[in-house]
This record gives sequence, C-alpha cells and structure tokens, in this order.
Amino acid sequence: MVVTPWEVRGKVDYERLIREFGTQPMSNELLQRLERHAGGLHLQLRRRLFFSHRDLDVVLDLYEKGIKFVLYTGRGPSGPVHIGHMVPWIFTKHLQDKFDTRLYFQMTDDEKFVVDDEANLKDTTALGYENALDLIALGFEPKNTFIIYDVQDIDMLYDIALEVAKRITYSTAKAAFGFQDSTNLGWVFWPAIQAVPCFIHKKLTGENVPALIPAAIDQDPFWRITRDIAQKLGYYKPAQIHNRFLPGLGVGGKMSASEPETAIFTTDPPEVVKRKVWHAFTGGKGTVAEQKKEGANPDVCSVYQYFLYLFEENDKKLTERERQCIAGEILCGDCKKQLTERINKFLAEHQQKREKARDTIEKYHIKR
Ligand code: TYM
Repeated sequence: MVVTPWEVRGKVDYERLIREFGTQPMSNELLQRLERHAGGLHLQLRRRLFFSHRDLDVVLDLYEKGIKFVLYTGRGPSGPVHIGHMVPWIFTKHLQDKFDTRLYFQMTDDEKFVVDDEANLKDTTALGYENALDLIALGFEPKNTFIIYDVQDIDMLYDIALEVAKRITYSTAKAAFGFQDSTNLGWVFWPAIQAVPCFIHKKLTGENVPALIPAAIDQDPFWRITRDIAQKLGYYKPAQIHNRFLPGLGVGGKMSASEPETAIFTTDPPEVVKRKVWHAFTGGKGTVAEQKKEGANPDVCSVYQYFLYLFEENDKKLTERERQCIAGEILCGDCKKQLTERINKFLAEHQQKREKARDTIEKYHIKR
C-alpha cells in the first residue's frame, strides 16, 4: 500500500493509516456532537466514509464556546474532475450549510505544474477555472466561498508561505513527502503554499479561528508539517476530517484520473458512462446460474461502492440491495444498469449547473 498526496496504490488499509499517520478514528461521541449541531447525520458520516480526524474535538469545543471555524479544501487541476473528488466537496457543502461558515478553496495550478514533468502552466491554470465550475455547480454560496487560484493570487499567499517555509527543515519535508535528490526545487517548496489557506483568514479579517479541512487521507502529510509550526506563528493548528477513497471501476485502487476507463468524469457523456460502468469489476460469479445459486460479494464490488458513497441515499434500500446481492436475487447486469441511470441523471443536472456557473465564477474568486 502506498498513500501519498501524489500516489495511491494497492489495497488501502484505513486502520493502518490511522496508526501510521497518527490520526484519530471518528468516535461515536464525535458523531453525536456533529449530529446535534447539524440536526442530523450526513450520509458520509453515517456510513463512516469520513473515518478519521485530527482535532475535530478541539474545533467543536471552541465552536461550543462561540469561536467559529473556517473550512478549507482544494483541488490540483491535472485534468477534468472525477466523481471521487466530489466526495469531500459534497461533505464540505453540508458543513458550510449547517455551520454557516466560510470556505477557502485552493486551486493548485502551481502544484500540478511542478510535480508533473509533462505539465504546462497555461494548461493547469486553464484547468483550474474549468474545475472551479464543478465546485460551484454543487451549490456553494458565493458570499461564503473564496476560491484561490495559486498562480494568479500568489501575491496574497507569499508572505505566509515564507513564514511557513522558513520553519520547516528539509529533513522534516523529506520524511513527510519522500523527496529525493532528483526532486525539483519547486516541488520541495510547494507544501508551504498548500499550508497558507489554513491561516489566511486572520490576514483577511483579523479574526483568529481554526481551519477545518475535509479531504481524503492522501492529503494528510501536508497538515502534519503545517500543524507542527502553526502555534509558533500564532495560529490554531489546522484540524482535519479524512474521507476514504471512492474506488475506481476496476479491481481495487482509488478512482484516479490517470486511469480514465475506470473513472467517471463530471464531463462524461451518457454513452461513455454506460460503457465504463458496463466494464466495471463486480463481485459476481462466472455464470448467471452460479450467481443465482450461490449469490455474489458486494464487499469487493466496485458498483456497490458507488451506491454506498453517492448514489443510494436511502439506507434501507442500500441494505436491501446488499441482501439481494448476497442471496443471488439480483444480478450484476441489473446493478450496472441502475447505477448507469443514476449517474447519468446526476451528471445531466450537474453539467447544466456547471455551464451556468460560467456566469457566476467571478463572484467566487477571493478578493484582495
Ligand atoms: P486532488 O486534486 O488530488 O484531489 C482533490 C480532492 O479529492 C480527494 N480525492 C478523493 N476523494 C475520494 N475518492 C477519491 N478517489 C479521491 N481522489 C482524490 C483529495 O483528497 C482532495 O481532497 N494538493 C491537492 C489540492 C489541495 C487540497 C487542499 C486538497 C490544495 N489544498 C486542501 C484538500 C484540502 C490535490 O492535488 O488534490
């Protein structure tokens, strides 16, 4: 298993990541506190898709004493957005709605340029704007949502990035990120830039409040080094809430843009979705007769995971699908057909909202 911000490989063992990264598992007590404040438990919490955190308890303690928090998340624009990227964004929207709080969203066109030998800066910047449309299409409030485009907005970030970079040694960064002698200097400095939105709220408003970061666990190494220096710079340590990876449609592994046939992009047309889902790996048996007799295995089935993560909101219906699958009462072809319909319905609406977002995108750009 390899889980870094730039590579996720093998079968991800989430318990082991909690131990190795030194994060905390989501406890029932924390879930209850979130439920109380939000007036219900979001699907991604009920299903333990957010499974781990750092200092969520501290953020809630402060919140209960009247100190608010800001949300921070982001995207490295290396290509079109896939539906896995939207898992943490959907949850971020839920938190923004329930806690009425600001979101800083970082579009890291600079990161994608320095980490990929083939990348060209004009392309990653252009992709940043295209990817922002996907975020806006999810319904974020412009008054509370501040998108930072790194290359364009670097003057706003640079002073804090320098303060951060000065306090992190190369050996700390190397241990956290696995840098080699061959790693370019842009990449080595880059983590200081991802740290900045954890702290930028104070500079913009004078208000010192913690940042809470919903993201998949691959981003955690950034927060580890940022948390070490936060208090030295007069800020709260940034807090995190970590989600699992939506798998790809193949055998194991997370959904990844580098394997386009097993990823569903938000811009995919219906026939492409149909083809990709049709070729998905399932927990089915070799023949229909065998499956009807012995049943199938939803635990290893990629199609089932899509219902679990995004496309079956009703818990009872999800449990019933699982039961029918194990009992051999439903076949993989049925699930694939139903999933294709649900994804295509979601994407048809999303694509319309995404086009409309072209008219409002400027309202979300962070102001100086
Ligand atoms: P990026 O573009 O790799 O990923 C964007 C967000 O999606 C999460 N993610 C996934 N979640 C569920 N299932 C998947 N298959 C999946 N693949 C990716 C990532 O964890 C991330 O939350 N360096 C960052 C950009 C960034 C950022 C941030 C992300 C800057 N500041 C703060 C999160 C929080 C990047 O390249 O993300």
